[in-house]
Amino acid sequence: MPRNLKNPVSKDELSEIIAGLNQSPKMISPKYFYDEQGSRLFEQICELPEYYLTRTEIDIMQSCMDEMSARIGKQARVIEYGIGSGLKTRILLEGLDDPVAFIPIDISPEHLAEASRELAQRFPHIEILPVAADFTRPVLIPETKRKSLRNLVYFPGSTIGNFEPDAALELLRVMRQEAGPGGALLIGTDLKKDPQIIEPAYNDSHGVTAQFNLNMLRHLNRKFDSDFNLQHYRHHATYDEQSGRVEMHLISEDDQQVTLGEHQFSIANGEKIITEYCHKFSPEDFRELASCAGFCHVNSWTDLNHWFSIQLFECH
Ligand code: AVI
Repeated sequence: MPRNLKNPVSKDELSEIIAGLNQSPKMISPKYFYDEQGSRLFEQICELPEYYLTRTEIDIMQSCMDEMSARIGKQARVIEYGIGSGLKTRILLEGLDDPVAFIPIDISPEHLAEASRELAQRFPHIEILPVAADFTRPVLIPETKRKSLRNLVYFPGSTIGNFEPDAALELLRVMRQEAGPGGALLIGTDLKKDPQIIEPAYNDSHGVTAQFNLNMLRHLNRKFDSDFNLQHYRHHATYDEQSGRVEMHLISEDDQQVTLGEHQFSIANGEKIITEYCHKFSPEDFRELASCAGFCHVNSWTDLNHWFSIQLFECH
């Protein structure tokens, strides 16, 4: 029995993958990085010496949390889009004044359940309400027991940079809706800088990013019953200063055919599949984008090198 009959996938997901593989250049959404193995590999990336983003953002959180907390105010209902290793979340929940609930939304149910269990043990007084969902689509946010004074949408890690500008704007608009009147957004963004700092972060010497990139094909094979041969692709990542983004590719090392359900795709030797964009921002660019989504800037915090920025916005 084909695996996709045992594990039905939504028509939308299947059409999205097929459309991406039919376009030129071929593209697969970065959300398919995150099966259980992919989430684990991403955690390893965050610990790599070359991957400055996570530790820089954590340093900013640790040194500026009191000020962030004072600006955000007490009794917030925190909605996190995606959940990482949980350290940033722990710093936030520890630093905020009496948060009433924490609602993480993540596409990987196993990872979400594990992270939520750990948070529930550490913060027994905060209601933890995990939502296993793709946050790029409308999500039903559960009711909380205690009343909050404001919603705080938390979107760390510069994940907003993984969306193309139109999609980033759309997602910020959804967050603006979610935050509601009086709500706020606390968001981490990686800043534009010397390519010699950025490129190694996506081409690490341990090859973890390469494994993370290739694991996407393993995930697709399992989920969609496709037959990508992982041996015949290699990882490639470059930073283009002009567009201010890293492009992650899988390069085909052979002329090959891929079958996905009833669909067949030809991939030529040397042809790329784009698996991710990682946009870097200037603080001003990002404020402009957030303003178009209906947010006004409250404050920004950065590190001494100005490599990363955490910005707080309120709804207009
Ligand atoms: C999740 N996201 C912010 C990471 C990034 O840096 O854009 C994903 C990643 N891709 C390769 N390494 C890390």
